[in-house]
Amino acid sequence: MKSYSTRHSIQTHLAASLTAYLEDLQESGLDGIPPELMSTTVPDTMRQQTSAPKTDRDRTINAQQNVAESHETLEQIRKNLGPCQRCKLGVTRKNLVFGVGNPRARLVFVGEGPGADEDTQGEPFVGDAGKMLNRIITAMGLKREDVYICNVVKCRPPQNRPPESDEISACSPFLLRQLQSVRPEVIVALGTSAAQALLQTKTPISKMRGKFHDFHGMPLMPTYHPSYLLRTGGNSDSFWSVWDDMVQVLQFLKLPVPDKSRKK
Ligand code: URA
Repeated sequence: MKSYSTRHSIQTHLAASLTAYLEDLQESGLDGIPPELMSTTVPDTMRQQTSAPKTDRDRTINAQQNVAESHETLEQIRKNLGPCQRCKLGVTRKNLVFGVGNPRARLVFVGEGPGADEDTQGEPFVGDAGKMLNRIITAMGLKREDVYICNVVKCRPPQNRPPESDEISACSPFLLRQLQSVRPEVIVALGTSAAQALLQTKTPISKMRGKFHDFHGMPLMPTYHPSYLLRTGGNSDSFWSVWDDMVQVLQFLKLPVPDKSRKK
């Protein structure tokens, strides 16, 4: 029978080889190994250690290095996505619409998927729904450049139909990585598709909105989609429901709430 130290060194060696192999696979563009899985596949205690931390200062430096190493940038995620053909939307899209805005935003908006204008320009929320979203952002006292904006799927569904579950499944590991990279203090899910996909539920948006939900440790506020507001009008009940939701978001972020009074 092998001694504890022999078994431990074999385990350590296997764990280090497995880690290196998984990292190679990820770098070569294999999808489906999100970073959090990388860190849970091989427990930290089994990672090969070149030098054990001896002092508190060493431990602090090691902890800082671990955080820096585990932080994936949006550029890395975009590169990893490549000229994506992971689902059928890849065939019909003009441009992949990754996301736009501040990579360190305190607030992220997640929509459903690109429409015709977004598909042409390669940027989310640049058409009519985008103008309505810009109005909401401005009404909150913020600028579009302050926030980060992305969608549940990165390629336009034909005829602007809602994204299908296989398309959402193919795209969601990348959305999760984007959200973990930005690590905002609040996520706003715009509309049914975004809220249901992120929270993995079939609950109607009308039941979910107005309350914070948990998304991987980040508070998520579902609200109505800007396109819905375009249909219902600028002084509709749904418009004011969105404003109420945004007031909660501003209060959560400890930002000033601009005064808006409802027109009678
Ligand atoms: N609708 C969305 O959900 N996202 C966009 O980017 C544009 C319109």
